[in-house]
Amino acid sequence: MRKKITVVGAGNVGATVAQRLFERGYADVVLVDIVEGLPQGKALDMLESGPILGTDAQITGTNSYEDTVGSDVVIITAGIARKPGMSRDDLLFTNMDIVGGVAEQVAKYSPQCVLIVVSNPLDAMAQQALNVTKFPRERLIGMAGILDTARFRTFLAQEVGASVEDVQAYVLGGHGDTMVPLVESTNVGGTPITKLLKKEVSDRIVQRARDGGAEIVGLLKTGSAFYAPSAAVAQMVDSIVLDKKRILPCAAYLKGEYGIDGLFIGVPVKLGAAGIEEIIQVQLSPEEKTALDKSAAAVKELVEAMANRSAGS
Ligand code: APR
Repeated sequence: MRKKITVVGAGNVGATVAQRLFERGYADVVLVDIVEGLPQGKALDMLESGPILGTDAQITGTNSYEDTVGSDVVIITAGIARKPGMSRDDLLFTNMDIVGGVAEQVAKYSPQCVLIVVSNPLDAMAQQALNVTKFPRERLIGMAGILDTARFRTFLAQEVGASVEDVQAYVLGGHGDTMVPLVESTNVGGTPITKLLKKEVSDRIVQRARDGGAEIVGLLKTGSAFYAPSAAVAQMVDSIVLDKKRILPCAAYLKGEYGIDGLFIGVPVKLGAAGIEEIIQVQLSPEEKTALDKSAAAVKELVEAMANRSAGS
């Protein structure tokens, strides 16, 4: 029997995630949204591509969580996206309510699923989903690091004129202005970029990667990125559904790793059938550790703002 994957939110990110997963053919996909007709229409359109693509997987759209029952993997993309001039943090309270409501339904209908959160601000929304579902941390993961790393790798590959596949890099930390590209361990086919690029050039690339989401928002004007984000989600789902045990940067709930306790933050994790199977602790330079702590402090501020709002203060 094929696996069952639910994607909540049939907007730009959700529909593109659903398409990428449906086309892989290894799972049946359920697409959920509050807008009537939207998930049904998009899912039917994708289903009708099956004969052309040669996939027998099923995809259905729905407004009811009953259709999601027993999903192996659930992906939450519901929420509002940024408009020009907005930071991810500006979405906090609106998306907190949306993600909280969705997470409640996920816990009710798919209590054993691996849950991937995509809605922004990412690290705070993962925390909100954890608060509501009470899932073990192994089964609740945020998508951000793969995307931030992909942006960094794209710009580096362009600069040095190499294949993106040969640019090895990790971007850790929160999914925001404080993200932490590990420049010292970044390499192109084994040669450190500190040897290939002048510092001012790599600094410029780091900044462009940090602002990568805002650059797209500025161009699109009516929404935020979805092609690269959906590709990042699909890579996580591949590793889980196919039990590949890839080591990928994802937002994980830390319990003392990297000296951080009780917060979601982007770190390398091993993803397999059980979800997060290991949190990998890479050696950080003192500067990188300081930057990671600063990033964690920024995430903590958002989490505290959510807690204060929930407490009614
Ligand atoms: N339940 C299900 N779907 C919902 C709910 C809800 N409670 N609230 C909103 N939605 C749906 C909307 O109807 C819309 O179809 O979420 C979808 C969001 O789609 P877009 O507006 O196109 O936003 P998108 O670009 O997909 O981004 C979604 O992902 O990357 C993040 O920052 C981004 O938080 C944003 C989220």
